[in-house]
Amino acid sequence: MLHTISYVSTSKELSDFQINELLYTTKLKNEDLGITGILMYSDYNFFQIIEGEKKVIQYLYQKIKRDIRHFNIIKILDRSINIPSFTSFQSTYTIINREKDYPDLQQFLEVGKVYNPKNFQNISYLVNKFMKLA
Ligand SMILES: Cc1cc2nc3c(=O)[nH]c(=O)nc-3n(C[C@H](O)[C@H](O)[C@H](O)COP(=O)(O)O)c2cc1C
Repeated sequence: MLHTISYVSTSKELSDFQINELLYTTKLKNEDLGITGILMYSDYNFFQIIEGEKKVIQYLYQKIKRDIRHFNIIKILDRSINIPSFTSFQSTYTIINREKDYPDLQQFLEVGKVYNPKNFQNISYLVNKFMKLA
């Protein structure tokens, strides 16, 4: 069974090196585990979507919640899905860490909305909110 969890959180004071290390390790680990989604970092805030096997996702979320590099974790989505939304995006776990990465994601979401309006409208709304908030 496939599942998705999404949340926003506040980053602890981390150096650029620490942020990059976190983003890069997350990407590698998720690719290894077959987890898809996005992790966005902007101005002390994280926004993450993870999609994959229910047990794997729930176990990972418990670990992420305990991670001392962030706090104020607010869960937004926690539900089963039929089809993952991000398998086709850049074909890897996606990290958005710079303004320049954002247009690609937006374009992907716009196309997604045409084929799967229900899923993508929510995701697109959250991503845009996050970018404006950050
Ligand atoms: C904002 C944030 C997002 C994270 N996302 C992931 C993730 O998607 N996948 C992952 O493996 N670890 C992620 N981590 C790291 C985990 O919290 C944890 O450090 C890591 O899974 C521990 O791996 P280990 O069991 O190999 O020690 C994240 C950490 C933070 C602070």
